[in-house]
Order: sequence, then C-alpha cells, then structure tokens
Amino acid sequence: LPRPRRSVLYVPGNKPRSLEKAASLAADVIIVDLEDAVAPGAKAEARDAVTALIARGGYPGKELVVRVNGLDTEEAAEDLVAAAGADAVLLPKVNGPEDIRRAEAGLNALRGEHSRPALWAMIETPKAILNLQAIAAEAERTESRLSVLVLGTNDLVKETRVQMTASRMALLGWLSHAVLAARAHGLTVLDGVYNGLGDAEGLAAECRHGRVLGFDGKTLIHPDQIGAANRVFGPSEAEIAEAQAIVAAFALPENAGKGVITVGGKMTELLHLAMAERMLAMAQMIGTRQPVS
Ligand code: COA
Ligand code: MG
Repeated sequence: LPRPRRSVLYVPGNKPRSLEKAASLAADVIIVDLEDAVAPGAKAEARDAVTALIARGGYPGKELVVRVNGLDTEEAAEDLVAAAGADAVLLPKVNGPEDIRRAEAGLNALRGEHSRPALWAMIETPKAILNLQAIAAEAERTESRLSVLVLGTNDLVKETRVQMTASRMALLGWLSHAVLAARAHGLTVLDGVYNGLGDAEGLAAECRHGRVLGFDGKTLIHPDQIGAANRVFGPSEAEIAEAQAIVAAFALPENAGKGVITVGGKMTELLHLAMAERMLAMAQMIGTRQPVS
C-alpha cells in the first residue's frame, strides 16, 4: 500500500518564510519548486535553499519532493544534484517515455546517497496526455524510479486553450485517462491545483471531483487548502464504518468460505472486502500522522 498523499503542497524554493512554515503544516507531501514558481533570477538562491533544507533533514514525517527545471534547461543538471537527497524528484513538462529514461539516467549517474530519489512526472503537455500509456508503462521496467503522476492543469489549459470551468468539463477526459494509466501500471496519481485562493467552497468541490475521478490526492498552493484535501481524500467516518461492517460480516462463522454476502442491504463480494481492507489500512496510516489542519 502506498503512503497517504492526500495533500501535496507546492512551496516556491526562493521563499524562506514559506519553506520554514511548511515544516509545521499538515500536508502529507511538500514539493519545493525550483521551476515555474521561481523567477529566472532567483533559481540559484532557490537551489541553495533546497541543498540546505536536505542537509538539515528535510521535513520529518512528510515526504519531500523537489520539482526541478526541465531537462533541456541549463538549470537541470545542478537541480538534480541539489534534489538528489530528497524522497523524489518531480520532472516538469514530460512529453513521453524518453523523458523518463533521460531523467533516470541523470539520477543514476549521481553517486552514493544520490541514488535515493524516486521519480515523479508532471503530466501537463498535450503530448504527455497523448502518451500517457507509454509514460506510465515506464514504471514496469525493472529498477524504474517512476512512482507518481502529477497533473499540471494550468499548463494543460495554457497549451490546449481549453477553458477552465467549475465542472472542469474540458479537462475531464484527460484527467480520467491519467487515472486509468496510473492504475494500469501501479502508480499514484495527483490532481492539479485550484487557483482560487480564499474560495473554500470551490476548493472543496474540486477536491471532491478529483476523488470521484479516482485521484489519490490534490496538489495545493496555499496552507489554507490543506485541510480540505486531507478531509476529502482521506476516508470519511461513514466510509470507515462501512468498511468495518464488511470486514466484520465476512468474519462471521456463517459466512466462512462465501464469495458473496449481503451487508447493509448491498451485494458485497470478496472484491469489496479487499477494498474495505485497503481503506482501513489507509485510515490506519493516516491516523498515525499529524491531525488535519
Ligand atoms: N507554502 C508554505 N507557506 C505558504 C505558502 C505555500 N505554498 N503560501 C503561503 N504561505 C505562507 C506565507 O509565507 C505566509 O506565512 P506567514 O504568515 O508566516 O508570513 C502565510 O502562508 C500566508 O500567506 P498569504 O499572505 O496568504 O499568501 P501570499 O499572498 O503571500 O502568497 C501565493 C500567495 C499564491 C503567491 C503563495 O501562496 C504561493 O507562492 N504559493 C505557491 C505557488 C507555487 O508554488 N506554484 C507552483 C506550482 S502550481
Ligand atoms: Mg507546470
């Protein structure tokens, strides 16, 4: 079972105050950004902040991910070195499987503890959407580092010129396809960000939309967004109660050896038992983490 990644907060690498604040926040994952949130003149300063952050132990209890600049930029090589001690490197603007292989070769060429990071891929270009199956299939190679797909919905809107609406109608097929590709190859998949700062209702609705579509969590841009993501992407009390009822029902002596039973008026098969057990394991993992902010 992968670790919970309900709330995944971007923090610009050149904002020391935000980097410090991140330590106390209830996000499951912190992505320190060296790419688009950092202006060209601030790249070196942000990279030094990442090096210092990793040297002092990162964010205990949270996953630390570093979003590097694209492989074709002059920042990329130094970014990979700085990010090598993080839990994962997030590669922006992936277009196809060859980008995954190039990034892995870059990481493999680093030595020592530098062999550590997993590889996360931003899905944010039209080519990436068209190549989702081939990109996700990279995870099947032995020793592949690829473990997470991250949707970049702002870049997708820019590149395709679709319009972003509350229903995300124009993005729907791409979002669903990304979830399907991730599941086909055993990857975690994270929804894009919600730009409406201060719009709690809109954020909650978009989190629910992402959960319905099958995402594991949501990428976020502000501390105030963490609570909603943790609530929506974590199992609710009702879901936990239902899962417990399913596990209890299959454990009854009269149900021993049965493949299908009725629980709470619903047909319940062994696949539902597996889903219930997964949910309870996830709830258990979440329960041992810090409380929702
Ligand atoms: N991570 C950690 N802390 C953050 C934060 C973030 N993403 N965004 C804001 N904060 C902190 C601020 O440092 C501030 O802390 P303080 O009260 O201790 O000074 C506090 O939260 C309140 O910030 P606020 O004034 O509400 O935000 P802002 O107007 O300064 O900044 C943004 C708004 C959108 C510019 C900022 O939230 C941001 O940079 N977000 C991330 C953007 C990003 O990384 N984009 C790339 C991926 S899409
Ligand atoms: Mg982007």
